[in-house]
Formats: sequence, C-alpha cells, structure tokens
Amino acid sequence: MAYDSIFSRSFSQYHELRKLRCVALLLCFIITFSLCNILKQSAVNLELSMALGLKMLIGFEKINGPQQTYNVNSIYNLSNSRSDVLEINGDIRIHGKSATVFIASSLEGFPRSWTMEPYARKGDVFVMNYVRKWKINYQVTTKSPNCVRNFSIPAILFSTGGYTGNQFHDFTDLLIPLYLTSRPFNGAVIFLVTDKRYPWTSKYKVILEELSQYDIINIDKEKEVLCFTRMIFGLKAHKEFGINPSEFPYYSIMGFRQFLRSTYSLERKSINNCRWCKIRPRMLIISRKNSRFLKNEVEVAKLAQGLGFDVMVEEIVSNLSIVAKFVNTFDVIMGVHGAGLTNMVFLPNKAVVIEIIPFGLELLARPYFQSPAKEMNLRYLEYKVSLNESSLLGKYPVDSEVYRNPGAIQKKGFLGFRSIYLDNQNISLDCGRFRETLLKALKLVCN
Ligand SMILES: *[C@@H]1O[C@H](CO)[C@@H](O)[C@H](O)[C@H]1NC(C)=O
Ligand SMILES: *[C@@H]1O[C@H](CO)[C@@H](O)[C@H](O)[C@H]1NC(C)=O
Ligand SMILES: *[C@@H]1O[C@H](CO)[C@@H](O)[C@H](O)[C@H]1NC(C)=O
Ligand SMILES: *[C@@H]1O[C@H](CO)[C@@H](O)[C@H](O)[C@H]1NC(C)=O
Ligand SMILES: *[C@@H]1O[C@H](CO)[C@@H](O)[C@H](O)[C@H]1NC(C)=O
Repeated sequence: MAYDSIFSRSFSQYHELRKLRCVALLLCFIITFSLCNILKQSAVNLELSMALGLKMLIGFEKINGPQQTYNVNSIYNLSNSRSDVLEINGDIRIHGKSATVFIASSLEGFPRSWTMEPYARKGDVFVMNYVRKWKINYQVTTKSPNCVRNFSIPAILFSTGGYTGNQFHDFTDLLIPLYLTSRPFNGAVIFLVTDKRYPWTSKYKVILEELSQYDIINIDKEKEVLCFTRMIFGLKAHKEFGINPSEFPYYSIMGFRQFLRSTYSLERKSINNCRWCKIRPRMLIISRKNSRFLKNEVEVAKLAQGLGFDVMVEEIVSNLSIVAKFVNTFDVIMGVHGAGLTNMVFLPNKAVVIEIIPFGLELLARPYFQSPAKEMNLRYLEYKVSLNESSLLGKYPVDSEVYRNPGAIQKKGFLGFRSIYLDNQNISLDCGRFRETLLKALKLVCN
C-alpha cells in the first residue's frame, strides 16, 4: 500500500526479524556473542516503534473494492510533552486559507473535530499564542471540499512562528524536530509551512533543501484544496537542543552534527591535538552587543592570548553558510549565556564550550547548553558570574531580594525575572578568577 505508515511498515519487518532472530539465537551460541547482541538491539528498537504505532487515535477503515483503497484511514497520535504530532494516512484535504485539515471518511458516524498548533514547545502557553491554530475535521467524504491538486508525495505541516528568529529556538523547536520528522523520508516529502517567516526559510535554505527535494508551500496563502494520502502534522521533538537516541527514529545529536557537517561542507570533524602540532588553539569569544554585554571582552581576549590561545572576538550575525564554516575552525568558544552559543553545533568533536552564566541565571541557564554540549561530544566549562562582576551590583538596596534570592523572583513571574537578570545585566569578568577557567580549557584542548 502506497500510504503505509512508517510505523505499520515496521510491523511486518518486525515479524520477519523475529523469525530471523530465532534462527540467529541458535547460531548465536555457535558463532559469537556480539552478533547476538546486535540482533537483540534491533528487535528491541522495533518493539519500541510498534509501541509508538499502536498509539492510534482513529482506526483503520477497511473498504472493499480496489477503487477505494485510498479511503483506508488511520491517524496515529505521536504527541509527547513537547509537541502535538499526528501521522495521518488516508484521504487528507488541506485548506490553507481557513487553516483546516479534512480527513475524509467514507463511513458515516463518529465525526470529530479538534484544534492543534504545529509548533514544538507546547508547554509554553505564552508562545503558543503566536502559533496558528489548525482545525482537524474528521468527517464523511461528501461533506469535505473537493480536491483541486492531488499529491502523491507525503507532506509535513509545521509552523515557523513562536520564537522563530532566535537561533537557539530555530534549532531546538524547528531544525532538530524537522530533522527527526522528515529525515526518514529521505527527501521525498513536501514541507507545508504555516506562519511562514521569510528570513527563516532563507536562512536555513541549505538545510531545508537537504531534507526535502520539493519547494516549500506557504500553506496559509493556499486558497485551493490540496490533497495528500499521507501527512505528518506537527514536528516530533524529544528534548531541549537534543535528540533522545532511544526514541523513534533512533537518531542521535551526533548524527545531526554529521548531517550539518556534510550539508555545510565543514572540514574539521575533531580538534587537533595542539601538543603535537605547533599551532595555537583557536578561541572564539562570541560577543553580544545588546544585552548581557561582556564589558571587558578586550581585556579577556588579551588574557586568553597571553595564555596561548589564538583569539577572535566576533558578534555572530549574517549568513549561516559562512558562520558554520567559521565556527568549525575553532577549538574553544566562549560566550555569555545566549543564543550565540547555539553555534556550538558546528564545532569539531572534543572542542570546549565556556558558558559565562550571569548572576541569578544558574538554574535557568544550565539545561540549555550543559547537557547538549556533552551529548555533542564537546567539553563544557561554566563560569558563574559573582555579584561583584555584574552590573546589578549597586543597582538595588543591599539587602534586596534581587541579590538574595533570584529563584523567588523567577517564581513571581518570568517577565519580571527576565527584565532584571536577562535584559538588564552586563558583565565585567574578574580576570584573576577567570584565568583558572581559561587554563582548564587550555589543558583540555592540549591533552
Ligand atoms: C494526543 O495525545 C496527547 C498526549 O498524550 C493528548 O494530550 C492529546 O489530546 C491527544 N490528541 C488527540 C487529538 O486526541
Ligand atoms: C484527486 O483525487 C481524487 C481521488 O482519487 C479524485 O476524485 C479527483 O478527481 C482528483 N482531483 C484532481 C484535480 O486530480
Ligand atoms: C550565504 O553565502 C553563500 C556563500 O557566500 C551564498 O552562496 C548564499 O547565497 C548566501 N545566503 C544568503 C541567505 O545570503
Ligand atoms: C568577587 O566575588 C568572588 C566570589 O564571591 C570572590 O571570589 C572574588 O575575590 C571577588 N572579586 C573581587 C575583585 O572582589
Ligand atoms: C549594557 O551594555 C550595553 C552596550 O554598551 C548598553 O547599551 C546597555 O545600556 C548596558 N546595560 C546595562 C544594564 O548596563
């Protein structure tokens, strides 16, 4: 069947594999232990994907007669805590102007209708207000609009609204989820973008062209009804700036990094060992000009230079093809907590990431880059800014809660917290203390 789900396809593979596994288990005693383990692993993976496939929302409709096989509908609910995702197989009719997906059923009975927002940050109630709401209508064919264009290739519908434009969110909420969702189609998939923002699609054009062979459709502008036999609504997402390798499709963030390396033709897979070649390790200081400004970045650069690094200070803007190649030439990047550090995805393996954590941001900042860096096979060092290095010193009364208990202020409301600690704090590093962190970084890249 042309519109078999990637999940249901694995059902039959699963049974075949099971047979194979039985034979192999016998042979296993004779041959080797390792063969046995590999087979066990793939059987476990297939069991997991079957479990995912079974999260069915609306079941199969078996219609007799060869003419009507397209009416076999199935809807899988693949949602998790980060995003709402449906995999739909059958008679799908999309009307972009009215933001409606019709799933046409040849049977009367259980018509259903609900709304969904195809952006992978569903826990964030604030940002979800900036994502277009789509109606999903499951109803009889006679009540569904007629198809104006029929597509034989599957579609993925997703939003580039929300926090799109902030590079961290571009990766966490969009590019990594899109990679997880579309890569299994190997380019044979068409992207339907809602809340289309031109800078996003042009900024990541190179990646998008690698994931889909077809032109992107700005679905909000479509007045005509576009029909598909298979689609994924929304993007699968596992975690903050990362991939869980034990979830379908069993990809890893290292695989994603490899994908970026080949997409942008990045040369360095891993850092060189500076002990053996006489080149100074290269350090990039990511500069921020508008907020969380590192006031003594020139002094810090000189300090690092003096310790043996070849240092550059840059504000990362402009064209990603150029940025990716540029960042890939470094062994160490350092920067104050912020979206610029997202560029660590382009670093070679074993490179060092130094995150300067502004006063009060310890708990908030850590999950964004610390564990992602480790999973990316990078080394992570953090430097916690003390009050005497922060522009917050002297701004509030000595016994202010701002100094005593940032956590309590965060609990009172994110906007207030953000205004104090994220938007209105500059930093001047204590070079005596920061030197220790630089020496640690030097030791890491030189060993
Ligand atoms: C899909 O599953 C999620 C999480 O389990 C649930 O919140 C959501 O309501 C389900 N969607 C539909 C349309 O049933
Ligand atoms: C699209 O496919 C449906 C179902 O096969 C068919 O009834 C309809 O005529 C097709 N429309 C176009 C424009 O090809
Ligand atoms: C980025 O730079 C590359 C190489 O110079 C160029 O081919 C491409 O068109 C640029 N992309 C954008 C979006 O400006
Ligand atoms: C700033 O505070 C830190 C930690 O409280 C302390 O170790 C350091 O010596 C102080 N630096 C200066 C210049 O006072
Ligand atoms: C931080 O530095 C920037 C750039 O110099 C400046 O525009 C801004 O007003 C400063 N903010 C604070 C809170 O000192």
